[in-house]
Amino acid sequence: MKKATMILDRDFAIGAVDPRIYGSFIEHLGRAVYGGIYEPGHPEADELGFRKDVLEKVRQIGVPVVRYPGGNFVSGFNWEDSVGPAADRPRRLDLAWGTTETNEVGLHEFAAWAKKANSEVMYAVNLGTRGADAARNVVEYANHRGGSFWSDLRIRNGRKDPFGIKLWCLGNEMDGPWQMCHKTAYEYGRTANEAAKMMKWVDPSIELVACGSAAHDMPTYGAWEYEMLMECYENVDYVSLHRYYGNPTGDTPGFLARSMDLDDFIKEVVAICDAVGGRKHARKKLNLSFDEWNVWYHSNEQDKEVLKADKWGRALPLLEDVYNFEDALLAGAILITFLKNADRVKVACLAQLVNVIAPIMTRNGGGCWAQTIFYPYMHASRYGRGTALRPILQSPVYDCKDYEGVPLVDAVATMAEDGAVTIFAVNRDMKEDIRLDCDLRAFGALKVKEHIVLHHDDVKAVNTEENPDNVTPCLETGACCDGGTLTVRLPALSWNVIRLAP
Ligand code: AHR
Repeated sequence: MKKATMILDRDFAIGAVDPRIYGSFIEHLGRAVYGGIYEPGHPEADELGFRKDVLEKVRQIGVPVVRYPGGNFVSGFNWEDSVGPAADRPRRLDLAWGTTETNEVGLHEFAAWAKKANSEVMYAVNLGTRGADAARNVVEYANHRGGSFWSDLRIRNGRKDPFGIKLWCLGNEMDGPWQMCHKTAYEYGRTANEAAKMMKWVDPSIELVACGSAAHDMPTYGAWEYEMLMECYENVDYVSLHRYYGNPTGDTPGFLARSMDLDDFIKEVVAICDAVGGRKHARKKLNLSFDEWNVWYHSNEQDKEVLKADKWGRALPLLEDVYNFEDALLAGAILITFLKNADRVKVACLAQLVNVIAPIMTRNGGGCWAQTIFYPYMHASRYGRGTALRPILQSPVYDCKDYEGVPLVDAVATMAEDGAVTIFAVNRDMKEDIRLDCDLRAFGALKVKEHIVLHHDDVKAVNTEENPDNVTPCLETGACCDGGTLTVRLPALSWNVIRLAP
């Protein structure tokens, strides 16, 4: 059997894990809201029309923060359309996705849903068709105690206490030509800065995310971050990163190596933030909000057909990727990469949460089930809290089209306040199990509590409403911790969670 070794030490701290790295995203897109979280008349609908079966799955994951209401959608969105009596709200064409938005669910409804889901709202303002004025007004509406035009309107709309939204996105993917009112880096940086100043004058306690590039491979990537930050560094707190991966050619080893690209992307954006900080002689450091990440390619062709058949339809089945087992492995490797960069990645959002490129699927009027990617996401969120520990890892490697020296085993660990240690590991080997020996001497006597494994013999295996448990985790026996050394078998192509307790 191939062998990998790892040394972990309580002193090798990367940083505190910000729970918000287990965030997600709900956009007014497809069936994320209508038919996803909200379906009045469904047997599982609660008194507000929210599906209880979906809420249960969201709570099962533990999603500390949910980005809302977009996405590309937000760049044409009038937040005022989404408050007040639901019957009076306008129906609008959504130019981002070619559909019709009815505004049945708006700010008040979403905040109520988020509370039921035990999540905070991360609210994006429109810096496309709107600007700084609308942005400062929605902060006043949401967060001001009362006694002003917008806060009194909130109270008249039935919400006495402020929503207290702490985290705000300054627009979405403003570097992308597909965005409504796309901007140059300078234009965006100026707009974001003015919006940020006014939003913080209304509520100084909020935190703001400036738009980084829409992807690592955007032609303006790098220059965009530098130039826009030169305009707004002082008034923002985070820079966003977005990244989606696909495997259209069926190159599994190459696909599973994509977390290397993610790691490069993170380190480069950190370097640019710090370069701008240095150039400005700033003492403040910016952190990262990786507020869109996932696999996204399975549904691309189907979406063209859906829109051809029903352009401007409501709640169309768009971006409904059906995730397979290899997608779950990459999701696991991505979560490991966030933990390895826990000192600077403070927010991350799996895009998205329900139906739209999502871990949770529903059928209108029907069931609700977990896709393959649900499991690594849930495991990391449930067990990956506390302090992230830097592993000293020796693993056999492989080469693929875009990368040389890809470690077959990727791993990281977290340590909780009660001394519990959790190791997350992916075995990328297509054929062979790998024995991992982990030196844990510095932790005293630890016992193996459980070894959770996600594996399927078929990398293309999926979960469906009819067969929801096709790809599900199981418990492995055999991991053993003796004399400060953990020995564990990582099955070929597997996601592993090894939970150790004092
Ligand atoms: O998550 C789907 C879309 O991907 C978002 O609306 C946009 O921000 C990104 O391009």
